[in-house]
Amino acid sequence: MKSNRREFLKFLGVSSVALSKVGAMSQLVSCSFLESETEFPSQIDDVILRKDLSYYPIISWGEPINSTETFGFNNDYITYKNIGNNELLMWVNHEYTHPLFVSGYERTKDNIDKERRAVGGSVIKLKMHNRRWKFDISDSRNRGVRGDTKIPFANGVEVQGSKYAIGTNSNCAGGLTPWNTFLSCEENSDKNYGTVNKKTNEVKPSVAQWEKYYPHPVEHYQWVVEIDPETANAKKHTNLGRFAHESATPVVSKSNHVVVYSGDDKADEHLYKFISKTNSDFDEGVLYVANLEKGQWLPIDLELSPVLKKSFKRHIDLMVNTRKAAKILGATKLNRPEDIEIHPKTGDVYVALTNNTQRDDFYGKILKISEKDNDHSSLEFSSEDFIVGGKSSGLACPDNLVFDSNGNLWIANDISGYSMNSNEYKGFGNNGIFVVPTSGDNAGNIIQIASAPNDAEFTGICFSPDEKTLFVSVQHPGELTRDLEKPTSTWPTGTIPKPSVIAIEGGFITKLTGQS
Ligand code: FEO
Ligand code: CA
Ligand code: CA
Ligand code: CA
Repeated sequence: MKSNRREFLKFLGVSSVALSKVGAMSQLVSCSFLESETEFPSQIDDVILRKDLSYYPIISWGEPINSTETFGFNNDYITYKNIGNNELLMWVNHEYTHPLFVSGYERTKDNIDKERRAVGGSVIKLKMHNRRWKFDISDSRNRGVRGDTKIPFANGVEVQGSKYAIGTNSNCAGGLTPWNTFLSCEENSDKNYGTVNKKTNEVKPSVAQWEKYYPHPVEHYQWVVEIDPETANAKKHTNLGRFAHESATPVVSKSNHVVVYSGDDKADEHLYKFISKTNSDFDEGVLYVANLEKGQWLPIDLELSPVLKKSFKRHIDLMVNTRKAAKILGATKLNRPEDIEIHPKTGDVYVALTNNTQRDDFYGKILKISEKDNDHSSLEFSSEDFIVGGKSSGLACPDNLVFDSNGNLWIANDISGYSMNSNEYKGFGNNGIFVVPTSGDNAGNIIQIASAPNDAEFTGICFSPDEKTLFVSVQHPGELTRDLEKPTSTWPTGTIPKPSVIAIEGGFITKLTGQS
């Protein structure tokens, strides 16, 4: 405990401002169950946990999930449908690939095909065996939805003259609907298919250059995809808008509408919510964008916001060009809105704003939004900072969030591989998982519980139904590797790095979740 505090002081650089925070921290760690001798942060190439936690692997990139498909690369968001009997139909996103490990840098059709098969997502059946979650390869529902899967647009909508898209990619975070289907968000698809120059109508080449062999319309990507857990049938929802969707977080409002919050993870982009007409689908409803200064949700709708008629003719044009419509309405620019979670007790909406280095915001923050009358269908809200990242809070670049049912907020951060442990990020160590109580004397205090292997980030943090296990994606270990002989990480097997899903368990988790 003393050495922990000493390390913490060292980490803070022992400024007088910082010392007041240390006071709060020592108060916090005086609760016996929060005591730890683990010294964070770490730069060790391994999953480092508090001493009362341990982990075991669930599945890694490249392992078969059925007779023809393997688990994709860079696993990200995790959710599941609880099918009872200690069995879960789990969904795992696969966001993007690393050519050195998956395909090859040369932009041949063969290499691009390998990449298209390694992104999207996987349905995997998990079963409890000897008190551990195990992947059950015998289940016929195990399958991939990938970069080459034919996926219709919901409700027969046509986008660029087609009722379906080929594939899903850049699947970052997501959500679980009240009717137990998965939502998977297409974030940076422009890196696979490019962007359209609106003036010349030409496609600006993408980083991955998939358009070289597959010139699919760029407008077929950056949607929210809904997946049926039982069949893996997917559809893309145009009603939720098109932008770099990080996450899609559904909740049923007091007035019985399903509302979906979603952030556009790009510097100076916006926060959105869709209010459905019903509580059981996204087939009709209105998409809104947030103005934080006014505390208002602004409708992206031709009738409700007639000013949009000057620039748009049809509803689908608004949905395809959501960013442009949001700007016309005066949406607030935000510093990369990423994951969004709803507090299970207060209903407040917590939004991770990762950073915005162009605006000298290196550490980001977590914003708390309180809807008027505590109604998610409300069109007015107030907002305040819940946590501000920085050296004094010990948190930089919050990205993925999850609440346990007691209202503790669990955070996975994402300092980019290139910046980690240098310049502004010196002292933060590798990326980690943190927990923050949201009420009581310790509200807002941050405790690190895990540190990731080199270059990696933890994503997809998700509790098992009994809240005794935290499922976690270990994404992009060894991402800075440029030579297979010299990988920057060898996690988890001591050879080349492999993105993997792991299960973390132990007393610290069960005490906080109230399950011990
Ligand atoms: Fe895929 Fe914004 O992280
Ligand atoms: Ca993210
Ligand atoms: Ca989340
Ligand atoms: Ca990330």
